[in-house]
Amino acid sequence: MAGDVSAACLRRIFYQVEEPLELHLSILDGIADRYDTPYFDNLQKYAQRPIGTFHALPIARGKSIFKSNWIRDMGEFYGLNLFLAESSATTGGLDSLLEPTGNIKIAQEKAARAFGADHVFFVTNGTSTSNKMVEQALLSPGDIMLVDRNCHKSHHYGAVISGAFPLYVEAYPLTQYSMYGAVPLRTIKKALLDLKAEGRLDRARLLVLTNCTFDGHIYNTERVMEECLAIKPDLIFLWDEAWFGFAAFSPFYRRRTAMGAAASLEKRFRDPAYRAAYKEQEKKLGEDLRPDDTRLLETRLLANPDEARLRVYQTNSTHKSMSCLRQGSMVLVKDPDYHKVEEQFHEAVFTHASTSPNLQIIASLDVARRQMELEGYELVNRSIQLALDLRREVNSHPLISKYFRILGADEMIPAQYRNSGFVDYLAPGANWASAVKALKEDEIALDVTRLTLVCGAAGFDGTQFKNLLAAEYDIQLNKTSRNSVLLQTNINNTRSDIAQLIKVLVQISQGIEKKLADGGTTAKQSFAARVKSLMTDVPDLPNFSSFFNSFREDPSSMTSEGDMRSAFFSAYREQQCEHLKLFSSEIDKRLKDGPALVSANFVIPYPPGFPIMVPGQVVDAQTIEFMRKLDVKEIHGFSATLGLKLLNPAFLQSAKTPANSANDAKHTKRKTARA
Ligand SMILES: Cc1ncc(COP(=O)(O)O)c(C=O)c1O
Repeated sequence: MAGDVSAACLRRIFYQVEEPLELHLSILDGIADRYDTPYFDNLQKYAQRPIGTFHALPIARGKSIFKSNWIRDMGEFYGLNLFLAESSATTGGLDSLLEPTGNIKIAQEKAARAFGADHVFFVTNGTSTSNKMVEQALLSPGDIMLVDRNCHKSHHYGAVISGAFPLYVEAYPLTQYSMYGAVPLRTIKKALLDLKAEGRLDRARLLVLTNCTFDGHIYNTERVMEECLAIKPDLIFLWDEAWFGFAAFSPFYRRRTAMGAAASLEKRFRDPAYRAAYKEQEKKLGEDLRPDDTRLLETRLLANPDEARLRVYQTNSTHKSMSCLRQGSMVLVKDPDYHKVEEQFHEAVFTHASTSPNLQIIASLDVARRQMELEGYELVNRSIQLALDLRREVNSHPLISKYFRILGADEMIPAQYRNSGFVDYLAPGANWASAVKALKEDEIALDVTRLTLVCGAAGFDGTQFKNLLAAEYDIQLNKTSRNSVLLQTNINNTRSDIAQLIKVLVQISQGIEKKLADGGTTAKQSFAARVKSLMTDVPDLPNFSSFFNSFREDPSSMTSEGDMRSAFFSAYREQQCEHLKLFSSEIDKRLKDGPALVSANFVIPYPPGFPIMVPGQVVDAQTIEFMRKLDVKEIHGFSATLGLKLLNPAFLQSAKTPANSANDAKHTKRKTARA
């Protein structure tokens, strides 16, 4: 055992309980090491020292607040320590987030150890910024970034900033609930193989996926990376685990995290049995996989362990699932080729990070890591247990279940992605063993702590129900869809929170019963009509149409990547744009007879929260129909008064976009070649 290479991760080896004192001291030493929060510890010491400040930030030390007759209440509300622990200096042991050499560096190293990464970067502007940093660092103009269209908007902006061409891969739709699931692996493999067939695979640099999605779809991260590396051995992965940072501290979930999967894959790539299995595959499918080989999409591919570079990045909103102040986020890096991108990585940090990072956020990142290392296991288990209880109670309560329902894994994930045969956490016969099997084997699994509560059958749309819970019952939640709201349990929840929610659902259900009983036939009819409209008359979710030809290098290509950055900046010139009212006949006429409608900007309705139009995208009839049926108030990038912002046909005809220039160059080349 002591000589076993995998034992390298153990701190110290004992032979049985031979040395109780050493064992005791080793345990204390291990705890002390995890308890140590170098940045937070130092900040506390700093706050207690008498310090004269001759720099910016008058609130540091709090004198301008506590001596004021007008704003002293702010000081009293937050307490003295907040102000004593403020500084704009990077001296006095405070270290610099932009160029850490002291306790921030050590705090980041400790976080790297805890999450299983090679490097960790603390970010104080949320994962919105972390994503843009990683994308700017890894991508350059013209690179292809495969990305779920339903991803967070920071990735779309990442494409604009880097100039990379997004190749949108579609998640499967859950039309009835107006939301998307995850992107099937087959779709991703197909996109890579199509790129290969057309000689552009070398430009595919990054795959970006959200793990888990807002609604709880968890990828089989290991399988996705393994099969993609079989096709493109140097593809880089960015797993947006904004919601899933906590998962590293649960043995139940860890295998499905970016870092957990990378560690497992790394080990398997070194295993002679893997190499032997790969050699077998090579005999069957050949060394260089042929994109027209139809078996590839059906086969679980193995990567060539001698060629594959396991380059994995993860971003997580530490503030979303751990005890960290808002906007605290981390970038995790596990990349043997990191040294090749290190300079540009730092450049990206300098581009996006504030030069005045918030010290309290940095301290809370340090402390969040301490907590998860010491009690994360217990806390995550509790949040899983609470989620299971809530699921069971809602779905089996005789009154609540008449109007509300929490969707099971079988409703969130089509059977073909649940290879293990797992149905749901509440299904008869389901137990920990079957749930673990599903997490090991299934292509897509459901995070039990993310609960989609269908409220349409109670006559509420998601936003309405969210507002009702907040206004009448002091219960807050975040995401909604046309007919559902998303409940989440996390390490902060208690049994009382669950009990209160159940009580409220009972109360609301009783209210509905009373209204229906008192209102007679008319009330029943209008209730039924409302439920039908919410649950049955749901609009189809529009797929990504295509980029307009002048933003594509080769309009006839099988894959749909496009030069979104050129389209985005084209909209900066007013004379290149036009506005058309959504319900105008002009739109219908243009859809029928052309010229094409081409979006000038991102249009993102909340809910569902994904861009239904991106700059340069051809707006098709399906998208217009979806927009017209949308009954949400918040649509970013769209003004009902002005109408849709489009790139105008005159500009599009004459546009000299880089893509057009590339086309011209290609044309000329082809012509010359033909000549
Ligand atoms: C998948 C995903 N990524 C990134 C973000 C942005 O994270 P933050 O709020 O930390 O900036 C969000 C926010 O909701 C998200 O859902």
